[in-house]
Amino acid sequence: MTDWIDHTYDVVVVGAGGSGLRATLGAAEAGLKTACVTKVFPTRSHTVAAQGGIAASLGNMGPDDWKWHMYDTVKGSDWLGDQDSIEYLCREAPKAVYELENWGMPFSRTEDGKIYQRPFGGMMQNMGQGPEAQRTCAAADRTGHAMLHTLYGQSLRHDAEFFIEYFALDLIMEDGECRGITAWKLDDGTLHRFRAQTVILATGGYGRVFFSATSAHTCTGDGNAMVLRAGLPVQDMEFIQFHPTGIYGAGCLITEGSRGEGGYLTNSEGERFMERYAPSAKDLASRDVVSRAMTLEIREGRGVGKDKDHIFLHLDHLDPAVLAERLPGISETAKIFAGVDVTKEPIPVLPTCHYNMGGVQTNYHGEVLTKKGKNPDSVVKGLMAVGEAACVSVHGANRLGSNSLIDLVVFGRAAGLRCGEVLKAGAEQKPLPANAGANSLARLEKFRNAAGTKQTADIRLDLQKAMQAHCAVFRTEESLAEGVDKVTEIAASIKDVSVSDRTMIWNTDLMETLELDNLLSQAMVTIASANNRKESRGAHAHEDYPDRNDKTWMKHTLAWYDGDTNSVKIDYRPVHDYTMSDEVDYIKPKKRVY
Ligand code: FUM
Repeated sequence: MTDWIDHTYDVVVVGAGGSGLRATLGAAEAGLKTACVTKVFPTRSHTVAAQGGIAASLGNMGPDDWKWHMYDTVKGSDWLGDQDSIEYLCREAPKAVYELENWGMPFSRTEDGKIYQRPFGGMMQNMGQGPEAQRTCAAADRTGHAMLHTLYGQSLRHDAEFFIEYFALDLIMEDGECRGITAWKLDDGTLHRFRAQTVILATGGYGRVFFSATSAHTCTGDGNAMVLRAGLPVQDMEFIQFHPTGIYGAGCLITEGSRGEGGYLTNSEGERFMERYAPSAKDLASRDVVSRAMTLEIREGRGVGKDKDHIFLHLDHLDPAVLAERLPGISETAKIFAGVDVTKEPIPVLPTCHYNMGGVQTNYHGEVLTKKGKNPDSVVKGLMAVGEAACVSVHGANRLGSNSLIDLVVFGRAAGLRCGEVLKAGAEQKPLPANAGANSLARLEKFRNAAGTKQTADIRLDLQKAMQAHCAVFRTEESLAEGVDKVTEIAASIKDVSVSDRTMIWNTDLMETLELDNLLSQAMVTIASANNRKESRGAHAHEDYPDRNDKTWMKHTLAWYDGDTNSVKIDYRPVHDYTMSDEVDYIKPKKRVY
């Protein structure tokens, strides 16, 4: 088991979702020898589940401007987003969408053949003044699926090499610089070291840390955990998005696009309660606002169902032809997972963990940053991160719907461009350090021979329930403090795990244990960061500190995890209070109302 199979590339991308594929094809297009290492087949990556669309100010269905998109994104972020990165995102968005169109992505179309765009929450015209902007470009309600197939097809046109069903284990670090990664090939048990001038982490989010999540079971944030094990920080992990409309019980996503097409929420009194919470945007307010309103309705006894513990989403008033053309996927999902015919009955829904605003700190080129001494933006040589794994930070404390898919392609593209600028194809790389991968071997051996008393699935369930109870839509001083204790105890309990299978070939028990170990470190930094932040901002709704406090808390959280002592260290860095160019001014903070 100690015989490494060694590979050398200019660029190694870890993960083959939207951002990983876009970075892979960008680096390969730039003439760099590029490998993409992925634990699932590329078109099974979680991007495939994205439904409602991708935001870009094309203006196909009404007036729009990238500066309006920027304003909405800054406001949506509750002024925690870095405005230089947000400017880059919104300005580059149309280009990235047209690129997808030119590569054959099958967007839905308007009568005159343009890309169809629907309204999404928090997207407005005229610097937030309204009316709503139709900015979300859609391929029915299967936009992520269409995008992933388009990008995978394009990646194959270039000479990128795919290492499929390889589970990335660790970063190979030397003197603070990233030199490559280690990985386990799941089907034959072999172990691999990939040496590279640059590693790009595109490993997605860690939604599976919660009991109810729209995320696939594969969403265990492996890249974030690799970064933490390498002694580097992650950023803003306390900001977790709860999507208002996960199917009650199953957690599957019902796209916000359904409200964009005219769907609305009601409580047990049949009231369209969003009119009280967001008089102007109503059901299309920002996700954090809608999720909180739903939770309050349930708490105050106006939930629906036998236990009055969920809310109804109505699409039954919409024209069945529109449902069939624009929302076929969720019509099917509602039938399968809730037994509901959307043309006749409302869908039972509940806020469900959907997205991690936090992740690996990067600049808008995708380069990973860390705080060294007083410098909060020091570049980690040889390491980049993109997509949900990264925190660039364009989403700040709350992401707007459909800004995720655009983040994937804009920053995946930016990372590929940066590699093309700063790397030389085939440049000689020094040998890896003699002990490269020793840490991965030790961790594999530890878990492969684990003969404790606890099942991996039981520890995972304890973790998911603790996070759901203590770190969800609303948080309090008491619930967070208790949560820190519980999660710390659960993280320690992995010492007593039992892994039944001793082989290295398709050892799913071992793999799930490694994924659980990854989830545990992220849960630790998440709950500690949440416990430390004494204000409410975006998705962090702290009932004992109900107001946003810009004076003390307009800053990003950085969190490090020490696995040996099972402890978290927290520090902060300033939010960038500047834009990238003279074309747009810094947008000053104000009260966030919809
Ligand atoms: O509701 C949705 O379709 C999800 C989109 C997103 O999270 O961006």
